[in-house]
Amino acid sequence: MSLKEVYNEQPNIFKFSDKNQKIVDEILKKYPNNNKKSAVMPLLYLAQKQNDNWIPLAAMKYIAKFLSIPYINVYEIATFYSMYNLSPVGKYFIQVCTTSPCLIRGADKLVKVCKEKISSKERKLSENKRCSWMEVECLGACVNAPMMQVNNDYYEDLNENNANKIVESLLNDKPLKPGSYRGRRNTSPEKDKNLNGNSSK
Ligand code: FES
Repeated sequence: MSLKEVYNEQPNIFKFSDKNQKIVDEILKKYPNNNKKSAVMPLLYLAQKQNDNWIPLAAMKYIAKFLSIPYINVYEIATFYSMYNLSPVGKYFIQVCTTSPCLIRGADKLVKVCKEKISSKERKLSENKRCSWMEVECLGACVNAPMMQVNNDYYEDLNENNANKIVESLLNDKPLKPGSYRGRRNTSPEKDKNLNGNSSK
């Protein structure tokens, strides 16, 4: 897991768009009046979505002021959780799960593909600036290991060969379809197999 770097070119101001401000108002309704500060995580996530998938320092300051909490508290949260990006990511942001179940099923090969095709370092944009990647902890799809998340989609049951094709497709802005690459439906057994992995015929 790489250390997060705060991007060195920061915008001076941040403000939620009118559309997102309405979403902020809805989010705040979920929290008691004396605990509005608990909305800090969804607000950070919304700020990230508004700003091309990364959070500038100005957004942290804006949220701190908006929720009347110290800026350092917002900064601590934004730097702790891997779901928050503090520098620009590619149009296709690839998160490779390298927790044990994925690792023993070959996640290291997916990392190798990302290093070779996108950038040798995590969080660095590809030369054409379309893709970036990082290692993450379990994404909750262990049954379909190894897997990677691209923006909001899961690509599962992967190997080096199809990971190569997927990353190529992203670099060319023609993404292949997400889902299982062994033809499984969600987490169901593979075709003609029962839950024990034996042929059902
Ligand atoms: S270990 Fe990779 S998704 Fe859970």
